[in-house]
Amino acid sequence: MTVNCLFVGAGDIADAYAAGLDGTTLSLAGVCDLDADRATELAEAHGARAFTDVDAALGDVEAPLVVNLTSHAAHADVTERALAADRHVYSQKPLALDAERAADLLSLARDRGLALGCAPESHRGPTQRRAARLLADGRLGPVGLVYAHAHAGRITDWHDDPSSFLEVGPLYDGAVYPLSLLVSWFGPVDRVRTADAVDVWPDRESRRPSAPSHVEATLSFVDGPVVRLTASFYAPHRGREFYGLELHGDDGSLYLDGAGAMADDPEAVRFGRAGREYTPVPAQTPTESLGYVDAVARLAEAVDAGRRPRASARRAAHVVAVCNGIERAAQECGPVSVRDFAATAVPTPAPTVRPPSTGDDGRPTGSGAALRLPPVGFGCSRYRDGEYVDRADSIEQALDAGYRLLDSAELYGNEFRIGDRLAAPGAPDRDRVFLLGKVWRTNHRREHLLEACSGSLEELGVDAFDCYTLHWPEAWAHRGPLSRLAERPVEKQEALTFPEDANGNVETADVSLERAWANLEAVHERGLTRTLGVCNVSVAQLDRILDVCTIPPAVVQVERHPYRPRTDLVRRCRDLGIRVVAHSPLSAPGLLDEPVLAAVGEEHGLPPAGVVLAWNATRGVVPIPSSTTPDHIVANARAVGRRLDDDALARIDALEDPSFER
Ligand SMILES: NC(=O)c1ccc[n+]([C@@H]2O[C@H](COP(=O)([O-])OP(=O)(O)OC[C@H]3O[C@@H](n4cnc5c(N)ncnc54)[C@H](OP(=O)(O)O)[C@@H]3O)[C@@H](O)[C@H]2O)c1
Repeated sequence: MTVNCLFVGAGDIADAYAAGLDGTTLSLAGVCDLDADRATELAEAHGARAFTDVDAALGDVEAPLVVNLTSHAAHADVTERALAADRHVYSQKPLALDAERAADLLSLARDRGLALGCAPESHRGPTQRRAARLLADGRLGPVGLVYAHAHAGRITDWHDDPSSFLEVGPLYDGAVYPLSLLVSWFGPVDRVRTADAVDVWPDRESRRPSAPSHVEATLSFVDGPVVRLTASFYAPHRGREFYGLELHGDDGSLYLDGAGAMADDPEAVRFGRAGREYTPVPAQTPTESLGYVDAVARLAEAVDAGRRPRASARRAAHVVAVCNGIERAAQECGPVSVRDFAATAVPTPAPTVRPPSTGDDGRPTGSGAALRLPPVGFGCSRYRDGEYVDRADSIEQALDAGYRLLDSAELYGNEFRIGDRLAAPGAPDRDRVFLLGKVWRTNHRREHLLEACSGSLEELGVDAFDCYTLHWPEAWAHRGPLSRLAERPVEKQEALTFPEDANGNVETADVSLERAWANLEAVHERGLTRTLGVCNVSVAQLDRILDVCTIPPAVVQVERHPYRPRTDLVRRCRDLGIRVVAHSPLSAPGLLDEPVLAAVGEEHGLPPAGVVLAWNATRGVVPIPSSTTPDHIVANARAVGRRLDDDALARIDALEDPSFER
């Protein structure tokens, strides 16, 4: 379906909307502007008709959708005319300059069964979505206080034609960005508690705002924080705060650089657990910038599907009411309650970890082809170059940087430390973290396996793993439980985990892989894990499991890096819908010094380690790098959000070394 639209207003913003039309279902049928030259220029570029009179355009152009791109003060009038002419409308912000007018527009749209949308919809931007996910993860706890800045900059310095901005002031052009975003997160504002409006402006500047140039207000949300808002045309463009939004909760803080930003910036979202420095939270999947016309295209699709969305217009009307309330509070020096317009928060993104599907008995159903994993995991092993290192701080840093898959194992001996981190204020909610555990090879007998899993869960302080795996396919002799291993003397740890016979050789146990898998299935039957997996298998060993299993593996974890890409296994797993997790992705000797990784990295703006991680992510494999260096932790999370082209993949594939051994 193609939906014809009529642009009313042909200024700079109309060019930005028009630039995104290709690739949408929208077709520009008409352009109307008081300035005939502007209308004609834009119309001709798109094979559309040009008009200087709105009513004439509405009468002559077959376009069910009007995009209102006029100057601020004209929005309400143009929207009203278009609705009255039975057109769906998408309006630039603000919807209107006063709440009564906004209410009339909403009523008109509703009475006529028309869709009405309004910018900004910046909650859909890549950085805003990342910030929303942090909020939904429960990282901040209850949010008590927000500092919101809407410093549009000295408008006369940067805008070609600032008259419309000077007429309405910084509330209706600037403050609408943080306000819309906060309403989309927290729902409506209850009241404006205090406000002040001042008129600061350089004496030398002849063009002055007719509305106050700088406004400050304190707002209370119905179900949310108190917000201190400053909106300014005076604070210069390069001031330290531009559109910064800082949220403080009981357990942590979140900083978003650019409430209205449309493009991704890996440094834009930062999380700080209470009492700790901010850590950047980069995107772990490729991001797309928001286009101006995207929201219009979405509105058109909804209309085509028979819906008549007005939620963004209700939020916009409420934001107008907040701006009106701030002006009144500034004049009357008192609190002002704000009409809510039934504005609703936008539902938060789904948890990273899909909730387990349960059978009639309420237990998790079998492992599945559709297991959704976070794009990167964090390796929690204590082993580092033959030594044990404490991982508590780095695990906390990884959670702060947005890692949502923790690779743990009873062998690592630090599950109780992870449990402490997950129980601490500011930790992500349980359903927001994917916990992968491993039973050590001395515990493959049924009773040992069940005991090991229960012990690990107790140390972690959770009811069930998201995936529980055999650490190795082959079994060794049992020497006792491995609980809280990190607290025991090193010799004791070694004796328990690497059992030796009288000759100093590893003592194996007579538990076949098939038997061990059946024992692992017993863990699943008891509801102690949502899915099952296996580590360090060959294709032949995987097939042995598949031949006998009742519950198939959802995850296969193997050492995987360019020297050892495990191509056959990865292909087989992909065909079977089994997710591959790459352990030890970076630590192969010499790997990070490979010139080809440096060269590809230069082309893609990644360090060599990032290239290896992006190579895994591009191939649909989830790497679980380990690091104790904060900058590496952030850089590794960022790298998995990047994709490599075929040429780069082939050059990295060529590093394969069939003789590679550790
Ligand atoms: N299932 C199994 O049998 C099995 C076996 C082995 C490992 N694993 C899992 O896999 C995880 C990772 O394996 P691994 O411990 O061998 O480590 P790895 O992730 O392959 O490599 C870690 C090493 O790489 C360095 N590094 C990390 N990021 C870097 C970056 N951006 N630039 C440069 N150097 C970087 C680290 O130093 P910094 O600390 O300075 O960053 C560290 O020296 C383990 O923690 C464990 O969870 C599983």
